[in-house]
Amino acid sequence: MGLKDKENKVINLSKRIGEKAGMIKNKNSDGKYKKETRVIAITSGKGGVGKTNIVANLGLALSRLGKKVLMLDADLGLGNLDVLLGLAPKYNLSHVISGEKSMEEIILKGPGNVEILPASSGIQELTQLSKQQKIQILTELDLLIDSFDVLLIDTAAGISTNVLDFNATAQEILIVVSPEPTSLTDAYALMKVLSMKYSEKHCRLLVNQAASDQEGREIYRQYNRVAERFLNISVKYFGCVLFDEKVTKSVRRQQVVLELYPDSPASKCFGMLAKKVKNMKTSKTTEGISNLFWKHLVQ
Ligand SMILES: Nc1ncnc2c1ncn2[C@@H]1O[C@H](COP(=O)(O)OP(=O)(O)OP(=O)(O)O)[C@@H](O)[C@H]1O
Ligand SMILES: [Mg+2]
Repeated sequence: MGLKDKENKVINLSKRIGEKAGMIKNKNSDGKYKKETRVIAITSGKGGVGKTNIVANLGLALSRLGKKVLMLDADLGLGNLDVLLGLAPKYNLSHVISGEKSMEEIILKGPGNVEILPASSGIQELTQLSKQQKIQILTELDLLIDSFDVLLIDTAAGISTNVLDFNATAQEILIVVSPEPTSLTDAYALMKVLSMKYSEKHCRLLVNQAASDQEGREIYRQYNRVAERFLNISVKYFGCVLFDEKVTKSVRRQQVVLELYPDSPASKCFGMLAKKVKNMKTSKTTEGISNLFWKHLVQ
Protein backbone atom coordinates (compact mmCIF):
# COMPACT_ATOMS: atom_id res chain seq x y z
CA MET A 1 0.00 0.00 0.00
CA GLY A 2 1.44 3.39 -1.02
CA LEU A 3 1.73 6.36 1.33
CA LYS A 4 -1.16 8.17 -0.38
CA ASP A 5 -3.41 5.11 0.00
CA LYS A 6 -2.52 4.91 3.67
CA GLU A 7 -3.28 8.60 4.15
CA ASN A 8 -6.66 8.14 2.48
CA LYS A 9 -7.36 5.14 4.68
CA VAL A 10 -6.65 7.20 7.81
CA ILE A 11 -8.84 10.05 6.54
CA ASN A 12 -11.69 7.64 5.77
CA LEU A 13 -11.39 6.04 9.16
CA SER A 14 -11.41 9.40 10.92
CA LYS A 15 -14.59 10.31 9.04
CA ARG A 16 -16.15 7.10 10.30
CA ILE A 17 -15.00 8.00 13.81
CA GLY A 18 -16.72 11.37 13.44
CA GLU A 19 -19.91 9.59 12.44
CA LYS A 20 -19.49 7.23 15.36
CA ALA A 21 -18.99 10.14 17.77
CA GLY A 22 -22.34 11.48 16.61
CA MET A 23 -23.90 8.11 17.30
CA ILE A 24 -22.44 7.94 20.80
CA LYS A 25 -24.29 11.09 21.81
CA ASN A 26 -27.54 9.31 21.01
CA LYS A 27 -29.33 7.31 23.59
CA ASN A 28 -30.32 3.71 23.10
CA SER A 29 -33.95 2.90 22.44
CA ASP A 30 -34.42 2.19 26.16
CA GLY A 31 -33.37 5.77 26.94
CA LYS A 32 -30.01 4.79 28.44
CA TYR A 33 -26.71 6.07 27.10
CA LYS A 34 -24.65 3.55 25.23
CA LYS A 35 -22.04 1.86 27.36
CA GLU A 36 -18.47 3.03 27.18
CA THR A 37 -15.51 0.73 26.93
CA ARG A 38 -13.09 1.03 29.82
CA VAL A 39 -9.54 1.43 28.51
CA ILE A 40 -6.76 0.50 30.94
CA ALA A 41 -3.03 0.60 30.18
CA ILE A 42 -0.77 -1.70 32.21
CA THR A 43 2.70 -0.27 32.10
CA SER A 44 6.03 -0.04 33.94
CA GLY A 45 9.33 1.81 33.98
CA LYS A 46 11.43 -1.32 34.43
CA GLY A 47 11.00 -4.44 32.30
CA GLY A 48 10.10 -7.88 33.59
CA VAL A 49 7.99 -6.73 36.54
CA GLY A 50 4.96 -8.79 35.47
CA LYS A 51 2.80 -6.62 33.16
CA THR A 52 1.98 -9.32 30.64
CA ASN A 53 1.02 -11.81 33.34
CA ILE A 54 -1.17 -9.17 34.96
CA VAL A 55 -2.94 -8.38 31.68
CA ALA A 56 -3.54 -12.06 30.90
CA ASN A 57 -4.84 -12.93 34.37
CA LEU A 58 -6.87 -9.76 34.91
CA GLY A 59 -8.40 -10.29 31.48
CA LEU A 60 -9.48 -13.82 32.34
CA ALA A 61 -10.72 -12.79 35.80
CA LEU A 62 -12.78 -9.95 34.31
CA SER A 63 -14.31 -12.26 31.72
CA ARG A 64 -15.33 -14.57 34.57
CA LEU A 65 -17.12 -11.58 36.10
CA GLY A 66 -19.15 -11.37 32.92
CA LYS A 67 -17.15 -8.68 31.13
CA LYS A 68 -16.30 -8.82 27.45
CA VAL A 69 -12.56 -8.29 27.37
CA LEU A 70 -10.13 -7.33 24.62
CA MET A 71 -6.38 -7.41 25.30
CA LEU A 72 -4.00 -5.45 23.13
CA ASP A 73 -0.34 -6.44 23.03
CA ALA A 74 1.18 -2.99 22.61
CA ASP A 75 4.74 -4.22 23.11
CA LEU A 76 5.04 -3.91 19.37
CA GLY A 77 8.68 -4.89 18.95
CA LEU A 78 8.82 -7.71 21.51
CA GLY A 79 5.23 -8.79 22.02
CA ASN A 80 4.70 -12.03 23.91
CA LEU A 81 1.15 -12.01 25.26
CA ASP A 82 0.31 -14.71 22.69
CA VAL A 83 3.22 -16.88 23.85
CA LEU A 84 2.10 -16.57 27.46
CA LEU A 85 -1.35 -17.78 26.44
CA GLY A 86 -0.02 -20.66 24.34
CA LEU A 87 -1.31 -19.17 21.10
CA ALA A 88 0.48 -19.13 17.76
CA PRO A 89 -1.04 -16.34 15.69
CA LYS A 90 -0.44 -16.29 11.97
CA TYR A 91 -1.07 -12.57 11.73
CA ASN A 92 -0.45 -9.70 14.11
CA LEU A 93 -0.48 -5.91 14.37
CA SER A 94 2.40 -5.60 11.92
CA HIS A 95 0.03 -6.92 9.23
CA VAL A 96 -2.54 -4.29 10.24
CA ILE A 97 0.07 -1.56 9.99
CA SER A 98 1.19 -2.77 6.56
CA GLY A 99 -2.44 -2.80 5.45
CA GLU A 100 -2.52 -6.55 4.73
CA LYS A 101 -5.11 -7.30 7.42
CA SER A 102 -7.80 -5.50 9.36
CA MET A 103 -7.93 -5.52 13.17
CA GLU A 104 -10.88 -7.91 13.13
CA GLU A 105 -8.91 -10.34 11.01
CA ILE A 106 -6.05 -10.68 13.50
CA ILE A 107 -8.15 -11.15 16.66
CA LEU A 108 -7.59 -14.44 18.51
CA LYS A 109 -9.67 -16.12 21.20
CA GLY A 110 -7.91 -16.90 24.46
CA PRO A 111 -8.92 -18.52 27.75
CA GLY A 112 -12.41 -17.68 28.98
CA ASN A 113 -13.24 -16.23 25.56
CA VAL A 114 -11.08 -13.16 26.08
CA GLU A 115 -9.99 -11.73 22.75
CA ILE A 116 -6.43 -10.79 21.88
CA LEU A 117 -4.79 -8.48 19.40
CA PRO A 118 -1.30 -9.97 19.11
CA ALA A 119 1.87 -8.01 18.39
CA SER A 120 4.88 -9.15 16.44
CA SER A 121 8.23 -10.00 17.90
CA GLY A 122 11.57 -8.96 16.48
CA ILE A 123 10.43 -6.22 14.11
CA GLN A 124 12.50 -3.30 15.31
CA GLU A 125 10.79 -0.65 13.16
CA LEU A 126 7.59 -1.18 15.14
CA THR A 127 9.24 0.16 18.27
CA GLN A 128 9.33 3.58 16.59
CA LEU A 129 5.96 4.02 14.94
CA SER A 130 5.27 7.19 12.99
CA LYS A 131 2.41 9.42 14.11
CA GLN A 132 0.45 8.32 11.09
CA GLN A 133 0.91 4.65 11.96
CA LYS A 134 -0.18 5.31 15.54
CA ILE A 135 -3.25 7.17 14.39
CA GLN A 136 -4.03 4.30 12.04
CA ILE A 137 -3.80 1.70 14.83
CA LEU A 138 -5.74 3.77 17.33
CA THR A 139 -8.43 4.73 14.84
CA GLU A 140 -9.00 1.12 13.84
CA LEU A 141 -9.00 0.14 17.48
CA ASP A 142 -11.55 2.80 18.27
CA LEU A 143 -13.93 1.31 15.75
CA LEU A 144 -13.47 -2.14 17.19
CA ILE A 145 -13.78 -1.61 20.93
CA ASP A 146 -17.43 -0.59 21.09
CA SER A 147 -18.49 -4.18 21.47
CA PHE A 148 -16.15 -4.72 24.45
CA ASP A 149 -16.55 -3.73 28.11
CA VAL A 150 -12.84 -3.53 28.82
CA LEU A 151 -9.70 -3.00 26.75
CA LEU A 152 -6.48 -3.95 28.56
CA ILE A 153 -3.31 -2.58 26.95
CA ASP A 154 -0.08 -4.45 27.68
CA THR A 155 2.62 -1.87 26.97
CA ALA A 156 6.36 -2.31 26.61
CA ALA A 157 8.49 -1.15 29.54
CA GLY A 158 10.21 2.21 29.67
CA ILE A 159 9.66 5.74 28.43
CA SER A 160 9.72 5.34 24.65
CA THR A 161 7.13 7.36 22.75
CA ASN A 162 5.20 4.19 21.88
CA VAL A 163 4.78 3.42 25.57
CA LEU A 164 3.87 6.98 26.48
CA ASP A 165 1.39 7.37 23.63
CA PHE A 166 -0.46 4.16 24.46
CA ASN A 167 -0.65 5.30 28.08
CA ALA A 168 -1.95 8.69 27.03
CA THR A 169 -4.85 7.08 25.19
CA ALA A 170 -6.02 5.06 28.19
CA GLN A 171 -8.53 6.23 30.78
CA GLU A 172 -6.62 4.51 33.52
CA ILE A 173 -2.89 3.94 33.82
CA LEU A 174 -1.80 1.08 36.07
CA ILE A 175 1.89 1.35 36.81
CA VAL A 176 3.35 -1.98 37.86
CA VAL A 177 6.30 -2.12 40.24
CA SER A 178 8.04 -4.95 42.02
CA PRO A 179 9.57 -4.49 45.47
CA GLU A 180 13.00 -3.90 43.89
CA PRO A 181 14.25 -0.33 44.33
CA THR A 182 15.24 -0.11 40.64
CA SER A 183 11.67 -0.80 39.58
CA LEU A 184 10.50 2.03 41.86
CA THR A 185 12.98 4.57 40.51
CA ASP A 186 12.09 3.61 36.93
CA ALA A 187 8.38 3.95 37.69
CA TYR A 188 9.10 7.37 39.11
CA ALA A 189 10.86 8.37 35.88
CA LEU A 190 7.88 7.13 33.84
CA MET A 191 5.41 9.08 35.99
CA LYS A 192 7.52 12.20 35.68
CA VAL A 193 7.41 12.08 31.88
CA LEU A 194 3.69 11.25 31.85
CA SER A 195 3.03 14.21 34.10
CA MET A 196 5.34 16.74 32.46
CA LYS A 197 5.02 15.89 28.79
CA TYR A 198 1.58 14.30 28.65
CA SER A 199 -0.17 16.32 31.39
CA GLU A 200 -1.38 13.13 33.07
CA LYS A 201 -2.94 13.90 36.44
CA HIS A 202 -3.75 10.43 37.76
CA CYS A 203 -2.31 6.96 37.80
CA ARG A 204 -2.52 3.89 40.00
CA LEU A 205 0.23 1.77 41.47
CA LEU A 206 0.13 -2.03 41.42
CA VAL A 207 2.80 -3.81 43.44
CA ASN A 208 3.58 -7.20 41.91
CA GLN A 209 5.58 -9.98 43.54
CA ALA A 210 4.89 -8.57 47.01
CA ALA A 211 5.82 -10.72 50.01
CA SER A 212 2.55 -9.72 51.72
CA ASP A 213 -0.37 -7.39 51.43
CA GLN A 214 1.28 -5.25 54.05
CA GLU A 215 4.48 -4.96 52.01
CA GLY A 216 2.43 -3.81 49.01
CA ARG A 217 0.80 -1.03 51.04
CA GLU A 218 4.09 -0.01 52.61
CA ILE A 219 5.78 0.31 49.20
CA TYR A 220 2.89 2.47 48.05
CA ARG A 221 3.10 4.69 51.15
CA GLN A 222 6.80 5.32 50.67
CA TYR A 223 6.33 5.88 46.99
CA ASN A 224 3.44 8.27 47.39
CA ARG A 225 5.36 10.38 49.87
CA VAL A 226 7.97 11.11 47.20
CA ALA A 227 5.46 11.46 44.36
CA GLU A 228 3.32 13.94 46.33
CA ARG A 229 6.34 16.09 47.01
CA PHE A 230 8.01 16.07 43.63
CA LEU A 231 5.45 15.08 40.99
CA ASN A 232 2.36 16.85 39.80
CA ILE A 233 0.43 13.58 39.49
CA SER A 234 -1.83 11.81 41.97
CA VAL A 235 -0.94 8.18 42.59
CA LYS A 236 -3.62 5.92 44.02
CA TYR A 237 -3.00 2.46 45.37
CA PHE A 238 -4.54 -0.18 43.16
CA GLY A 239 -3.41 -3.23 45.09
CA CYS A 240 -0.86 -6.00 45.02
CA VAL A 241 -0.22 -9.43 43.59
CA LEU A 242 1.70 -11.72 45.88
CA PHE A 243 4.94 -13.38 44.88
CA ASP A 244 3.92 -16.89 43.85
CA GLU A 245 6.13 -19.49 42.23
CA LYS A 246 3.04 -20.92 40.54
CA VAL A 247 3.17 -17.88 38.23
CA THR A 248 6.54 -18.98 36.87
CA LYS A 249 5.34 -22.58 36.59
CA SER A 250 2.35 -21.43 34.58
CA VAL A 251 4.48 -19.26 32.31
CA ARG A 252 6.58 -22.33 31.49
CA ARG A 253 3.43 -24.23 30.58
CA GLN A 254 2.12 -21.28 28.56
CA GLN A 255 -1.05 -21.03 30.60
CA VAL A 256 -2.25 -18.33 32.94
CA VAL A 257 -1.95 -19.06 36.64
CA LEU A 258 -5.62 -18.29 37.24
CA GLU A 259 -6.54 -21.17 34.98
CA LEU A 260 -3.87 -23.63 36.03
CA TYR A 261 -3.77 -22.95 39.77
CA PRO A 262 -7.01 -21.10 40.60
CA ASP A 263 -6.48 -21.39 44.35
CA SER A 264 -2.89 -20.15 44.43
CA PRO A 265 -2.11 -16.85 46.23
CA ALA A 266 -1.52 -14.89 42.99
CA SER A 267 -4.77 -16.17 41.46
CA LYS A 268 -6.72 -14.95 44.49
CA CYS A 269 -5.12 -11.52 44.09
CA PHE A 270 -6.13 -11.40 40.43
CA GLY A 271 -9.70 -12.25 41.36
CA MET A 272 -9.78 -9.35 43.85
CA LEU A 273 -8.15 -6.90 41.45
CA ALA A 274 -10.68 -7.77 38.73
CA LYS A 275 -13.48 -6.82 41.13
CA LYS A 276 -11.71 -3.51 41.73
CA VAL A 277 -11.52 -2.87 37.99
CA LYS A 278 -15.20 -3.69 37.67
CA ASN A 279 -16.07 -1.10 40.32
CA MET A 280 -13.46 1.47 39.34
CA LYS A 281 -14.60 5.03 38.83
CA THR A 282 -12.82 6.48 35.82
CA SER A 283 -10.63 9.52 36.25
CA LYS A 284 -10.81 10.41 32.55
CA THR A 285 -13.88 10.43 30.36
CA THR A 286 -13.58 8.49 27.17
CA GLU A 287 -13.85 10.43 23.98
CA GLY A 288 -12.68 7.59 21.85
CA ILE A 289 -9.07 6.60 22.27
CA SER A 290 -7.94 8.11 19.01
CA ASN A 291 -9.52 11.41 20.04
CA LEU A 292 -7.49 11.37 23.24
CA PHE A 293 -4.42 10.69 21.16
CA TRP A 294 -5.15 13.50 18.74
CA LYS A 295 -5.65 15.90 21.64
CA HIS A 296 -2.25 14.92 22.90
CA LEU A 297 -0.69 15.50 19.48
CA VAL A 298 -2.25 18.96 19.28
CA GLN A 299 -1.05 19.86 22.78
N1 LIG B 1 3.39 -12.54 41.08
C1 LIG B 1 4.49 -13.17 40.62
N2 LIG B 1 5.12 -14.09 41.38
C2 LIG B 1 6.23 -14.73 40.94
N3 LIG B 1 6.80 -14.51 39.74
C3 LIG B 1 6.21 -13.60 38.93
C4 LIG B 1 5.04 -12.89 39.31
N4 LIG B 1 4.70 -12.05 38.30
C5 LIG B 1 5.62 -12.25 37.34
N5 LIG B 1 6.54 -13.17 37.70
C6 LIG B 1 7.71 -13.62 36.94
O1 LIG B 1 8.23 -12.54 36.18
C7 LIG B 1 8.39 -12.92 34.84
C8 LIG B 1 8.16 -11.74 33.94
O2 LIG B 1 6.77 -11.47 33.86
P1 LIG B 1 6.13 -10.70 32.61
O3 LIG B 1 6.60 -11.27 31.34
O4 LIG B 1 4.66 -10.67 32.86
O5 LIG B 1 6.76 -9.26 32.84
P2 LIG B 1 6.65 -7.98 31.89
O6 LIG B 1 6.61 -6.79 32.79
O7 LIG B 1 5.54 -8.15 30.94
O8 LIG B 1 8.05 -8.03 31.12
P3 LIG B 1 8.47 -7.13 29.85
O9 LIG B 1 8.80 -5.77 30.41
O10 LIG B 1 9.66 -7.84 29.32
O11 LIG B 1 7.30 -7.10 28.92
C9 LIG B 1 7.42 -14.07 34.62
O12 LIG B 1 7.86 -14.94 33.61
C10 LIG B 1 7.36 -14.74 35.96
O13 LIG B 1 8.37 -15.72 36.02
MG1 LIG C 1 5.51 -8.04 28.84
